[in-house]
Amino acid sequence: MKNLRIKNILFSKEDIESIIKKIADQISCDYNEQQIDALTVICVLKGAAVFASDLIRHIELSDIRLEFITASSYLNSDTSSGEVILNVADDLAVFGKNILIVEDIVDTGLTLNKIVKQFKAFNPNTIKVCTLFDKPDRRIADFTPDYVGCTIPDEFIVGYGLDYAEMYRNLPYVAVVGE
Ligand code: IMP
Ligand code: MG
Repeated sequence: MKNLRIKNILFSKEDIESIIKKIADQISCDYNEQQIDALTVICVLKGAAVFASDLIRHIELSDIRLEFITASSYLNSDTSSGEVILNVADDLAVFGKNILIVEDIVDTGLTLNKIVKQFKAFNPNTIKVCTLFDKPDRRIADFTPDYVGCTIPDEFIVGYGLDYAEMYRNLPYVAVVGE
């Protein structure tokens, strides 16, 4: 494990707030337009916990459920292990539901590719993916999220739920770490 430190702040608390309100408005609008009022938000732990909890408070739909799954690929480092380990509760029923998977960041795309494939097999009515950040330069899997808060360059970021070796999730802002 490298000893990385915070280099510069990329998004302030206020920046993040306005990004989230924008995505929530877009989501509310899209589902309202399709006359869908029930949405099951599936938060990918741990990174998306902070984002999902703020996001759901801004989505304007009458019936919002919140579920959690865990996915891990980074084994205490800043490079993906390549293998994605998923953990989904047995009683998480998605058949016929409108599901929105909420992730902190899409990097290689391997994690979301695997999650979406797995959930599609259970025949939800609709399935969409929302991510706070996207690093498209590093994509390996053919994957495009439906909602993106902000596209960022190939840098390792922490804060607002995102970690480096489990640290920095509590920062209210998002910063770049490096040597
Ligand atoms: P992917 O499978 O490569 O797309 O990896 C996605 C996961 O890697 C995310 O859910 C994050 O947990 C983690 N990740 C990717 N980039 C970063 C980063 O810059 N900071 C913190 N975690 C990251
Ligand atoms: Mg994650």
